[in-house]
Amino acid sequence: MATNVASNITWHQGNINQNDRESLLNQKGVVLWYTGLSGSGKSTLANAVEERLYQRGRLTYMLDGDNVRHGLNKNLGFSPEDRTENIRRIGEVAKLFCDAGAIVMTAFISPYKKDRRAARALVESGKFIEIYCAADLKSCEQRDPKGLYEKARSGQIRQFTGVDAPYEIPEHPELAIPTHRISLEDSVDWVIAYLEGREIIPSERDSQQSAG
Ligand code: ADX
Repeated sequence: MATNVASNITWHQGNINQNDRESLLNQKGVVLWYTGLSGSGKSTLANAVEERLYQRGRLTYMLDGDNVRHGLNKNLGFSPEDRTENIRRIGEVAKLFCDAGAIVMTAFISPYKKDRRAARALVESGKFIEIYCAADLKSCEQRDPKGLYEKARSGQIRQFTGVDAPYEIPEHPELAIPTHRISLEDSVDWVIAYLEGREIIPSERDSQQSAG
């Protein structure tokens, strides 16, 4: 960590703000924060929601666990401190895209409540939508899409979430979706209905009217 933290810096307010950008895009900038165990379907659901939103003409941006760890966060591992820093950076990046007016999707295990709370606190109330992909450990381990649970059980990977590292279940997520029990299509419908209900995106009928 840097020891010389910058001082003498001033925040500059631009002339165009988040509201202006939201009006331009006819949507609200929000963060859809997917959380859950590895293999619980976070990326799958986030990608499917993103596709549906794209078809509806909405601007989205995806920040995905494994991908972000190839670049921005490639110097971080899976110790508790590194996971906290991982989530802190993602929270800050998500805030920027949200400010730009996009519907940001983040798909990270984000196992610690305090880290998710800190990410939530970065954006205005109502703009952080926590989506718990509630597949239980047994289902995730049975699916084991990347073969990582097997490696963790045999000791080839240490500090694996759900095996020898904790996952703190969200207490009050905006949505808790049992991704192991319902279809992807139904899960996507659930998220989209929430976004329409909160007027984050126009309803399908309104979108069609303004397009026609
Ligand atoms: S987080 O805990 O810091 O939020 P993140 O979502 O970025 O994790 O990365 C999780 C992904 O990294 C998993 O889906 C898995 O593919 C991979 N991974 C590698 N090692 C571990 C580990 N020890 N614990 C959890 N996931 C791991």
